[in-house]
Amino acid sequence: MAHDSTHDPEALLQDALARVATANDADALRALDREFLQKGGVVASILASIPNLPPEKRKETGQRANQLKVAIEAALLEKKSALEGASLDAERAGGDFDATLPAAREARGSLHPITQVTRELEDLFTSMGYTVLDGPEVELDWYNFEALNIPKDHPARDSQDTFYCDKDGKVVLRTHTSPVQVRAMERIKPPFRAIVPGKVFRQESTDASHEHTFHQMEGLVVGKDVSVGHLIGAMKTLLRGVFGRDIEVRLRPGYFPFVEPGFELDARCPFCKSGCSVCKQSTWIELLPCGMVHPNVLKSGGIDPEEWSGFAFGLGLSRLVMLRTKIDDVRHLLSGDLRFLEQF
Ligand code: FA5
Repeated sequence: MAHDSTHDPEALLQDALARVATANDADALRALDREFLQKGGVVASILASIPNLPPEKRKETGQRANQLKVAIEAALLEKKSALEGASLDAERAGGDFDATLPAAREARGSLHPITQVTRELEDLFTSMGYTVLDGPEVELDWYNFEALNIPKDHPARDSQDTFYCDKDGKVVLRTHTSPVQVRAMERIKPPFRAIVPGKVFRQESTDASHEHTFHQMEGLVVGKDVSVGHLIGAMKTLLRGVFGRDIEVRLRPGYFPFVEPGFELDARCPFCKSGCSVCKQSTWIELLPCGMVHPNVLKSGGIDPEEWSGFAFGLGLSRLVMLRTKIDDVRHLLSGDLRFLEQF
């Protein structure tokens, strides 16, 4: 029906209410909503006509247009719920209605596999008295290298090339979680145990096992008479937590300027007895570098190496996730591809 904006609001309201009352489906209600309430509709055109009215009529017309709007909105809403109720009643009355069927579920997301493993490890280590620490991803060269016994021009910098954030090379994206070792020593009085899960960055040519952005988890224990035996014990507990059973480990010598002695810890392949593609037929998997904290690092953190000793390890969290979930390319992890993520 065409409406004249100068039409009597009372007559308009009666017309609208009568038509709402006889509308018998949602489409008809939507059409009335468009005709009366939406942009270009009856109420809008009354409001648009106000500037052309004599001043004494403007206020009243505005008020009545608003009353009209509110009344039609209420009538539409009421009719909508009445129609929905009626359709539900009709459905319930049908012979094949089953009130015991489960309701349709909302699709639920899941935690990223790195978050899942991080949380499991946090639970495991906090149960052994470790504190969970955090540190900055944009780090000072001092904490990332110098304080860890890696001065400028030290060859160990080559294996951890990074992204420099300033002209002088004093601010870098951290290449490992180890800088939090020294930050922890500065803040916490020994003895203490801590783990530091987090994101790290390297200037790498990427391939199936190398990403420029990946996750590590540092572990650091400082106390009296801490020994390699304690380190091995902690690593065996870690593996039992991750794989659900005891796994044999071995230490090989490894070099990192911030530990002395330093080791590479290998774990017996959890997937085979005599060699498989995961362990490259060797039955051993290279799991993590570790060692006894170098006295110079204790000194950098303000701790007396004559009195205290400690061990540290640097778990490649991304690679551990790959191992546990048999992912063949590290680059899937941070790709943001839902087809990959939905599997976890
Ligand atoms: C380190 O980063 C030392 N901070 C570890 C450490 C801590 C040693 C404490 C001694 C004491 P490395 O560069 O090897 O070490 O890296 C540790 C682990 O991170 C590797 O074993 C590997 O699992 C993982 N990793 C290294 N580079 C990459 C990469 N580009 N992509 C994915 N994972 C990587």
